[in-house]
Amino acid sequence: MLKKPLHLAIVGATGAVGQEILNVLERRAFPLASLRCFASERSKGQTIQFREETIPTEVLAPGCFSGVDIALFSAGKTVSLKYAPEAVREGALVVDNSSAFRKDPSVPLVIPEINPHALKQHNGIVSCPNCSTIIMLMALGPLHRAFKIQRVVAATYQAASGAGAVAMRELEMETRAVLEGKTFERTVIPHPYAFNLFPHNSPMTDNGYVEEELKMLDETRKILEDPSIWVNATCVRVPVLRAHAEALNVTFCNPVTVSQAYEVLSQVPGLTILENWKENRFAMPVDASGQDTVFCGRIREDLSFPQTLDLWVVGDQLLKGAALNAVQIAELLGTNTGI
Ligand SMILES: NC(=O)c1ccc[n+]([C@@H]2O[C@H](COP(=O)([O-])OP(=O)(O)OC[C@H]3O[C@@H](n4cnc5c(N)ncnc54)[C@H](OP(=O)(O)O)[C@@H]3O)[C@@H](O)[C@H]2O)c1
Repeated sequence: MLKKPLHLAIVGATGAVGQEILNVLERRAFPLASLRCFASERSKGQTIQFREETIPTEVLAPGCFSGVDIALFSAGKTVSLKYAPEAVREGALVVDNSSAFRKDPSVPLVIPEINPHALKQHNGIVSCPNCSTIIMLMALGPLHRAFKIQRVVAATYQAASGAGAVAMRELEMETRAVLEGKTFERTVIPHPYAFNLFPHNSPMTDNGYVEEELKMLDETRKILEDPSIWVNATCVRVPVLRAHAEALNVTFCNPVTVSQAYEVLSQVPGLTILENWKENRFAMPVDASGQDTVFCGRIREDLSFPQTLDLWVVGDQLLKGAALNAVQIAELLGTNTGI
């Protein structure tokens, strides 16, 4: 429980994640003393409706975080790198959804259900992991604790909204254009997206993996505090509006049966087993969209390799993969520090 209502700021309040943060604050009846909403110059003059209040969007400027207890940043890496340290200097705690500080050893990288203890030490900034990593570790964190994971082979099926609000709108407009036989000019999506899919478009690195894939490796090691784990990811964008799905093939150091894995996963807060084997019906993005919980199931033995299980996870990456995770961290910070 928060000790008292907080002065909160949302940076990127008009974006896909920012809008979900507002929804999550509302749903969780987050106690607020005040709420400031920041966006870019493009949103100047816009207002945001929140609980009976009309809040103007503001542009970031020196001194703008004075009096703010916690600032939730969801405006991209460049904005976080420039303004998160300023926010801390002005007295705010920062919860950052971008990749700006995730690899910094002095910045905790936190999924509240998995490693809340990491919040004990920070220098004012706390990072939220990448959305695909959060959704994967909601299931793999508890399995690692129980049976120790050696290696994960992950294939992701990532929704358009992972690339922001504009990407989501572009998928809708492109789909309509294709159905109507019209041409469509894409601005943020790099490839044909309607009725198509493509390997993740984050920057390619020297070793042939894209950044999104390496985040799943690096962040898993940091969050689970185990540099010996390997994650081999192939990330793909699919023409789904929201909620990422992931096929995970997991090799364990210790023996584990399918029923033992179900037993562990059935007790994880924030994780729901959703499946009907008889009807061959497992969680889909439509089930996970708008849901706080991450879904998992379809756990089976890998017939081709010992001590290895396959499982399927699906989660709304705008919620547990970003907005909800950030608000949960803010709640813990408010409780732990008694701001
Ligand atoms: N989308 C996801 O599923 C997801 C999941 C996890 C983490 N994240 C991370 O969360 C962040 C936001 O992602 P998103 O999907 O919400 O993107 P988005 O829909 O494109 O929204 C970006 C937000 O940042 C604001 N912004 C841009 N430049 C700014 C500036 N100079 N000063 C202040 N505000 C500025 C935008 O304001 P305007 O509306 O005025 O342009 C908008 O509110 C990114 O770092 C992303 O990597 C996203």
